[in-house]
Amino acid sequence: MSYAFQAEGLVKRFGATTALAGIDLAAEEGTVLGVLGPNGAGKTTAVRILATLLRPDEGRATVKGLDVVKDAAKVRRLVGLTGQYASVDEDLTGLQNLTLIGELLDLRRADAKVRAAELLEWFDLTDAGRRQAKTYSGGMRRRLDLAASLVGNPGVIYLDEPTTGLDPAKREDMWGVVRSLVGNGSTVLLTTQYLEEADALADDICVIDHGKVIAHGTPAQLKHLAGGQTIEVRPTDPADLPAVSGVLSGVTGHEAESPRRGVLTVPVEDERAFTAVVRRLDEAGIGVLELSLRLPSLDEVFFTLTGHTTRKEEVAA
Ligand SMILES: Nc1ncnc2c1ncn2[C@@H]1O[C@H](COP(=O)(O)OP(=O)(O)O)[C@@H](O)[C@H]1O
Ligand SMILES: [Mg+2]
Repeated sequence: MSYAFQAEGLVKRFGATTALAGIDLAAEEGTVLGVLGPNGAGKTTAVRILATLLRPDEGRATVKGLDVVKDAAKVRRLVGLTGQYASVDEDLTGLQNLTLIGELLDLRRADAKVRAAELLEWFDLTDAGRRQAKTYSGGMRRRLDLAASLVGNPGVIYLDEPTTGLDPAKREDMWGVVRSLVGNGSTVLLTTQYLEEADALADDICVIDHGKVIAHGTPAQLKHLAGGQTIEVRPTDPADLPAVSGVLSGVTGHEAESPRRGVLTVPVEDERAFTAVVRRLDEAGIGVLELSLRLPSLDEVFFTLTGHTTRKEEVAA
């Protein structure tokens, strides 16, 4: 197995705060690793270590086999980082920013300009490219930051909460960008507080909380951690709800719940229960508008694992 990056036993303390308490992370070439966790979980600290911006107190990390501490200069050539801190000069235009970064990466000025124009076009910033970055909207600024991290054509890209605070349409745009990066063979580390984002993009997810990996797996594996599946039924006629409830508890042995008006759900350990429910509803002549067997959402998983949601600090604040 060939890992694009790999971290083992990373520990990082800031004074009395243990930001990372020994975490392992790895991504195979050409995949997306989602690092999912609430504010303060240690996501940015881990990314900064993998990007050579911070030294771990303990443990080690490599990018394409190169040590992030010993071979930091080489590693920097391989990675692109975009995230929660500015990489862009507010007073320069988009074009100037990207051109400057290209020159810092030893491109000739003419080549740096060509690369900058290419990226501006890809991110739909060609017109905005002539304006100072400080005039950009949040979504444009985010795209410019991402473009800045891609100037050197890095094979490994760290995206630290690339969509936090973006509206849903802009978030979907960013998801498209991540998918095309991976389609071009890059490996992506994506940190996020949004479970649906990790679900949509990541091949593998590490759930971290308080500097520790508390769960690791594919989205489907993580969903199985929260227990089995759920059957959800919406009868055509709400008057049938008590009868549906009887069928559900009769088949599964669990009391049905009503999370929304007109809908009943029941947990199932064995998916064969679903066929039994379908048959009994049919036998009883009960018509249904909706009938599904689903895995829990990643939100439910995170809650099961930690006892709190990913947005705890915001809720508390
Ligand atoms: N430079 C720093 N100095 C002191 N504490 C820090 C510093 N950077 C991060 N921390 C602390 O480390 C913990 C993890 O932070 P961080 O990695 O930024 O989490 P996340 O990105 O998941 O929100 C937090 O408690 C944070 O306050
Ligand atoms: Mg962070």
